[in-house]
Amino acid sequence: MHNFISFPKDFIWGCASSAYQVEGAWNEDGKGPSIWDTFVHTPGKIANNETGDITVDHYHRYKEDVALMKELGLEAYRFSTSWARILPDGASAVNQAGLGFYDRLVDELLENKIEPYICLFHYDLPQALQDKGGWPNRDTAYAFAEYAHIMAEYLSDRVRVWITHNEPWVAAMAGNFSGEHAPGLKEPVTGFKALHHLLLSHGLAAEAIRASARQLVKVGITLNLSPVHPASDSRKDRGAAQRMDTALNRLQLDPLLKGSSPLQEFTLGKMLSKSIVKPGDLEKIRTLDLLGVNYYTRTVAKYDPKFPVVSAVQTQPEGNEYSGMWEIYPEGLFELLTRIWKDYFSPLPSGEGPAVRLPEIMITENGVPVPDGLDFDGRIRDERRIRYLRNHLFQVQRAMQAGIPIKGYFHWSLMDNFEWALGYSPRFGLVYVDYETLKRTIKDSGRWFAKVIQANGFEY
Ligand code: FCB
Repeated sequence: MHNFISFPKDFIWGCASSAYQVEGAWNEDGKGPSIWDTFVHTPGKIANNETGDITVDHYHRYKEDVALMKELGLEAYRFSTSWARILPDGASAVNQAGLGFYDRLVDELLENKIEPYICLFHYDLPQALQDKGGWPNRDTAYAFAEYAHIMAEYLSDRVRVWITHNEPWVAAMAGNFSGEHAPGLKEPVTGFKALHHLLLSHGLAAEAIRASARQLVKVGITLNLSPVHPASDSRKDRGAAQRMDTALNRLQLDPLLKGSSPLQEFTLGKMLSKSIVKPGDLEKIRTLDLLGVNYYTRTVAKYDPKFPVVSAVQTQPEGNEYSGMWEIYPEGLFELLTRIWKDYFSPLPSGEGPAVRLPEIMITENGVPVPDGLDFDGRIRDERRIRYLRNHLFQVQRAMQAGIPIKGYFHWSLMDNFEWALGYSPRFGLVYVDYETLKRTIKDSGRWFAKVIQANGFEY
């Protein structure tokens, strides 16, 4: 039996991308280097030593790309701006040519009735700021607020939604703790410092954006979140799952939505929180009109005393479906959304509403890498992606049925692009890119998504 899974009329359908992953033009028109430029040009950091120097050349082909968005019927496009394009040395001198690119992109989107969702930071810190200590240095948070102010002054006449950060946890931890991302440090303490300053910079930037906005704007943040399950029922694995949940989910959500921090729950954090969390920081961080949820997979945690801080590692239990990067686990999205709602959005036990105005919730990324290729007739039959999309959208709608007001869904990604340390092998797009010719071809999943948008739902 088939049901029609429908979404509210004002539900927002979009796609997401990020500057470093799609723009290319890494050293054009006055752009300064970012930590990703430095990282990819260091041999051995990226699969096959691939770089985002050109990637899908969105910088020059944005008109063609907006035309593709229009063809798919997208209502919104979430993209990030490159800080080093605007402020080549991280602070002081503004590069007008850099602003000009986003100016043209925003106009092109609006002309095509696609709402721009700007994200100000998606991993690509100006190298000049890294040279001064990067995110572990508190000054970087103030530099970010200045950059946010410049962007809001310039674009808030046309842009209403401002996302400060994409996945601050990944920027902090993959960059400074595990070292898979730029700047490639492997120092747990540095990771935690970086995360606090990233969150602080969200609060400072929110203030700056609102102060310089030319219309009523929404300020949000996008987080990587994941339900954490123990690998077994043992006490040790359950403890591991709890610590992993704290380190991943609560470390981001508590400061942003409750004004508190679970940092103290870790031995390392106890020591750190005194030195890095200054009076007033947590109040500053707790400001949000929009909570963006990025969901890809669940986390299965296993006790491992050798792993620093959390004494836990992620495992991939046998017998489940994996994409190569992650387990495919759609129910996790429902579980995550209901947990966020229950722990952070429900009225207080006293019956009073929460002390702060509740932000809207949106899915700002969700997607799957598929080893796509052109069939002999030129079509890309990416059935796995269609299945992934259907099953995840079903869970979004299920959460809405349960009373959680999800306002929109952004697929990751519009086009295949540079997937960080993994280079170009994982293809996440609804649109296929031939990396030799840069020709774009809409995949079957793109056509399927376009139909969903048009019907505002699908048969399930
Ligand atoms: C997210 C990132 C995004 C992309 C997807 C696959 O964590 O925000 O840039 O790499 O994963």
